[in-house]
Amino acid sequence: MRRAWILALGLLAAAACGERKELSLAEQGSRIYAANCTICHNPEPGCDGVDGPALAGSPHELIEARVMRAEYPPGYTPKRPTRRMRPLPYLKPHIEALAAYLGGLEAEAHSQ
Ligand code: HEC
Repeated sequence: MRRAWILALGLLAAAACGERKELSLAEQGSRIYAANCTICHNPEPGCDGVDGPALAGSPHELIEARVMRAEYPPGYTPKRPTRRMRPLPYLKPHIEALAAYLGGLEAEAHSQ
């Protein structure tokens, strides 16, 4: 019985590691977000984080301006008046994925 369990677990592990799943753009964005943004923003992008505001529903141009230059698109009213976020220009190849992930999420009414 015990051996069967161990065998089953081994098979599960093999399946999980052996198979390379193609991630959608939004799934890639979710990982980029988790690795680079959640030290300040909430792991749940619909909620405010310890430092950064909620980001669910952010449009592509806002994410691009902020991540590349820590700026805002013309005419955009920032959620916070502070200037604490630094640009993260090394994420340039991942802006599309971040935008697909964050832009595809519903902004919550109580997020501010
Ligand atoms: C060091 C902390 C920190 C990190 C890391 C960080 N941010 Fe921010 N972010 C902030 C803060 C604080 C603000 C509020 C404005 C300010 O003070 O710069 C902000 C504001 C924003 C805004 C503007 C929100 C609005 O509508 O006004 C966007 C978009 C944003 N961040 C995206 C990101 C993304 C995407 C990442 C990861 C690639 C990220 N941030 C990483 C702290 C951070």
